Amino acid sequence: MNSHPDARAQAEFLKTLEYKSNGSSLRGDYTQADAQYVVRQDMAAYTPEQHNRWRRLYARQAAMLPGRACDAFIDSLQAMNAADGIPQLARTSQALMRATGWTLVAVPGLVPDLTFFEHLANRRFPVSVWLRDEHEFDYIVEPDIFHDFFGHVPLLFNTVFANHLQEYGKGGLKALPLGGLIYLARLYWYTVEFGLIRSEQGMRVYGAGILSSGGEIEYCLTSPAPRRIRLDVERTMGTEYRIDAYQETYFVIDNFEQLFSDTAPDFTPLYARLRERTALPAASLLNREINLPPNRPARTN
Ligand code: PHE
Ligand code: FE
Repeated sequence: MNSHPDARAQAEFLKTLEYKSNGSSLRGDYTQADAQYVVRQDMAAYTPEQHNRWRRLYARQAAMLPGRACDAFIDSLQAMNAADGIPQLARTSQALMRATGWTLVAVPGLVPDLTFFEHLANRRFPVSVWLRDEHEFDYIVEPDIFHDFFGHVPLLFNTVFANHLQEYGKGGLKALPLGGLIYLARLYWYTVEFGLIRSEQGMRVYGAGILSSGGEIEYCLTSPAPRRIRLDVERTMGTEYRIDAYQETYFVIDNFEQLFSDTAPDFTPLYARLRERTALPAASLLNREINLPPNRPARTN
């Protein structure tokens, strides 16, 4: 497919992006995108400074993972061998195809919801091709290649998680005409982006938004400030979230099988119920809910 997205649909999408990126203008170059917003990753266009920045982002983040990221993430990340520079997506895509049947597609940046769901439903994960600037080293609002690749791709090597994400994509296509998008977006935020998972040694991170963040990866596990609540799908879908600060609530799962099975039921009646209520503020703790204790702060050597 090489046709350009329909001009009006794209103009509207660009407007929603301005909103999603807090009013700043778009980062990616959308002029070469095909109808699915796929582009070619131009490896020759990355500068030595960008590769160097990638190595520093990677090294800082990798050092934070032991005792904080879940084992499945750490093991797959190591196997991906991407510490030395901005990775070639096609190479990891081949390994991923062999492991779980997923592929990676290069995109200019954020893509429309429908496009995003179509990719996931077909076991394709969209990865932005641009890398953040130096002044954004610690914090960035829009997803760049470091967030998308380092944060999201490792867990796509896990069969259960990968299957869940495909179901999420199919669920998104189903939710669009039902008016369920906002609820699914919250679920994604609190699981795929900011989810915590239990392990024998304490809580661990599996959410990509945390795993690619220099500060939140320690904060989310050990700070006494935020709430940590066992995942309840309907509760999560009815809870607002913040995009401009550390989360005020994290939802915790036991394992990826739970994520898969808790999201398997038909959401149609949930969407109908959720529409009748006002959303809970991000910092809520309901009557019967248990606020799980934080991990003990990690030793800093
Ligand atoms: N089970 C959901 C539905 O019927 C789809 C879904 C699956 C949503 C997995 C999110 C994650 O709509
Ligand atoms: Fe993300």
